Amino acid sequence: MNELIIKGLTFSPDLSREQIAKQVARVAEEIKRDCVTDNPIFICVLNGAFIFAADLFRAVNLPKSEITFIRYKSYDGTKSTGVVQEVMGLTIDITDREVIIIEDIVDTGITAKQLRDTIKSRNPKSVKMAALLFKPESLSIGNPPEYVGFEIPPKFIIGYGLDLDEQVRSLPDIWSLKSQETND
Ligand code: IMP
Ligand code: MG
Repeated sequence: MNELIIKGLTFSPDLSREQIAKQVARVAEEIKRDCVTDNPIFICVLNGAFIFAADLFRAVNLPKSEITFIRYKSYDGTKSTGVVQEVMGLTIDITDREVIIIEDIVDTGITAKQLRDTIKSRNPKSVKMAALLFKPESLSIGNPPEYVGFEIPPKFIIGYGLDLDEQVRSLPDIWSLKSQETND
């Protein structure tokens, strides 16, 4: 399959499941190497990061590590709205804990900044972020993620948890939107 048409938009294959698995394993090794406690807490940002989080959490494989979930929403269709909504907040105490936020993708950085600020206000020992994907050219605020699977150009992508209006999250590979010029 070398083309996918979703809601009238054409997508081409971008990152294969094999490439993704390789980078997930590398990021997991980096996290493991850097952890200073044996019971870090991973905070998975729903919905987009749930598949990456499931793979990363198992690859890090620290028996005393924990995982919890938070939900943010900022995208509408293929564009960031610039307004980040906290749809579901943190339900547990993270005081003095080593925290690793798991994000699917850092684009403008607005969500990442708000997440870090919210989590830091709960007095953790430290906060780092692991993002499967990072669009450095789009970053307009805050710091880059400490752990990155892939740096990609500022194009819209789907699959492996990433959605187009809540659909296509189940695609095992990552696909990118073809530019308008090459669309026809
Ligand atoms: P930011 O606040 O602009 O950095 O956007 C971050 C959030 O927007 C991510 O957590 C994703 O949920 C969503 N997002 C950003 N880029 C894409 C994309 O290319 N495809 C799907 N969702 C995206
Ligand atoms: Mg997200």
